[in-house]
Amino acid sequence: MEKEKTYQLLLKQVESLIEGENNAVGQLANTAALLHETMGWWWTGFYLVNGDTLQLGPFQGPIACYNIKRGRGVCGTAWQEDRTIVVPDVEQFPGHIACSSLSRSEIVVPLHDGEGNIAGVLDIDSKEIATFDEVDAHWLEEIARVIERHVFTRSGQCS
Ligand code: SME
Repeated sequence: MEKEKTYQLLLKQVESLIEGENNAVGQLANTAALLHETMGWWWTGFYLVNGDTLQLGPFQGPIACYNIKRGRGVCGTAWQEDRTIVVPDVEQFPGHIACSSLSRSEIVVPLHDGEGNIAGVLDIDSKEIATFDEVDAHWLEEIARVIERHVFTRSGQCS
């Protein structure tokens, strides 16, 4: 219940943080900062589609790999299958890409442009096992819809 309330608030905060701005990098950077600071995750950020590759975007946390091919790792699989992926234990996910050896669980949520194509993913890592569940998936998808509306469906921005 506590987590639900935190996410309800976060959803409103993300919207007021990014609405009316015209700077995708800044909006994604501020969103990553807000989520990361509020939730205390290990790594919180975005990978953005460029051709057949997800490229590192704005994030908070330790340094990360630059490029992930479609279908590779958790991020590339979420892209290929166009669905949120919750990984309770990264060691049990075949092909998981370990940007940080301290990451133990992960969630990846796809982000779409105005035509329904995937424009990027929101990727979050935790140092604890099984941090993310269906509640996180639900609310992070709600947050993803807000990001899509204010960042990825405006003409000329990341689409
Ligand atoms: N673990 C991800 C790679 C990105 S880092 O977690 C920041 C994956 O398997 O796609």
